Amino acid sequence: MMKIAVIGTGYVGLVSGAGLSDFGNTVICADIDLDKINLLKKGKIPIYEPGLNEIVQRNVKAGRLFFSGEVNKSIEEADVIFIAVGTPEGDNGTSDLSAIYKVARAIGENLNGYKVICTKSTVPIGTGKKIIEKIKNNSKSEIEFDYISNPEFLREGSAVKDFLWPDRVIIGASNQKAIDMMKNVYRPLYINETPIIETTIQTAELIKYASNAFLAVKISYINEIANICDEIGADVHIVSKAMGIDGRISPKFLHPGPGFGGSCFPKDTKALISTAELLGTGLKVVRGAIEANQNQKERMVKKLMDLMNNDVSGKKIALLGLAFKAQTDDVRESPAINMIDYLLKNNAIVNAYDPESNANMKKIFNNLNVFDSWEDAVKEADCVAIMTEWNEFRGLDLAKLKDLVKSPVILDSRNILSNEDLESHGFKYDNVGRK
Ligand code: UGA
Repeated sequence: MMKIAVIGTGYVGLVSGAGLSDFGNTVICADIDLDKINLLKKGKIPIYEPGLNEIVQRNVKAGRLFFSGEVNKSIEEADVIFIAVGTPEGDNGTSDLSAIYKVARAIGENLNGYKVICTKSTVPIGTGKKIIEKIKNNSKSEIEFDYISNPEFLREGSAVKDFLWPDRVIIGASNQKAIDMMKNVYRPLYINETPIIETTIQTAELIKYASNAFLAVKISYINEIANICDEIGADVHIVSKAMGIDGRISPKFLHPGPGFGGSCFPKDTKALISTAELLGTGLKVVRGAIEANQNQKERMVKKLMDLMNNDVSGKKIALLGLAFKAQTDDVRESPAINMIDYLLKNNAIVNAYDPESNANMKKIFNNLNVFDSWEDAVKEADCVAIMTEWNEFRGLDLAKLKDLVKSPVILDSRNILSNEDLESHGFKYDNVGRK
């Protein structure tokens, strides 16, 4: 099996490193963030990701997974190097690629023999070419290397499962030698007959953006259909179920909600638009999806204000869930942010509970009150809003909830409660396209 270095220990790098070692490779996960590396060396995982701790411990114990703060040395020792550093949003919707280019330079400077350099981070189309240039410009010209675009399709919350049992693997390469090395890296998946698409670097780069933007469009579409349902009294769940039975549509990512968030869809949709603009082609559908998503987040605020007869000043509003989706502690672009921002600006008292992301949201809103249980967060509340679909909220004891709150008013922005149950317990409520 291969000797691999994964540069960057964010959720993509860490999950990929652990997954690649689980496939039998020897993997060094390297990062310049020494605090993170020290934590990992002590067996602690810096992010909340179900199953990650187990797979990391298993492979560390098996002597296949290592952590290092020495990026240069890790590069020297590896046959295959995965670039998995962050690409945050830069100016005008573009991606900030400074960390990527820094790694590319380090790879060039430490290239000591033939290696395959593989990018996992989401990078704009055409970045592969620039990475190749940077490596060449910083290395001794006689040393050969090949470049591969191998985008990730990991969902936060189910990233480990997505890595070990992917729907497909994309390998964008310019020669067979590099593809053969990747066959070794991903050998268990080849044996399992996981669909593996071998293509060019640019095509691989585009596949990632085209997939994320399509999913974002799908969500915005069903959210707008849900809004029509609101107006005509139709049930969006029956609409999406019936749509999804059509194999051409598929039922996945047709769940309406408060709008998509996270570190990927909001950033990647903007980056694809900016690429299309540079190329002079349009991307109106994706632009529409972004606009619809903003409207959806604002619509949730309006729904809550309607439930509160447009008066939240001095009122206690309890938010259940802060993360952008369940099974993660990530609050980036979470719809809860818009809600909290509006409520605090309008002098409401905002009490919140999230099983994993209280601390992360508190970093954004210092005057948010966070609690260790939903029961504590909802005490004496004038209104409760479910913002994230955590399982513990799905089974909410409505009788208990009613006893704890001041007024039985609830906004279910994730459609996880039953209308019948809410009605039988005497709640005033709203949801997304199901009334
Ligand atoms: C997304 C993609 O699903 C991954 O394939 C991709 O690898 C990843 O971005 C990335 O580029 O790194 P992620 O952002 O972790 O993964 O989470 P998703 O499960 O896709 O959810 C994104 C947002 O859409 C969340 O806010 C979620 O609540 C929302 N969503 C999702 C809906 O509102 N409805 C749905 O039916 C599905």
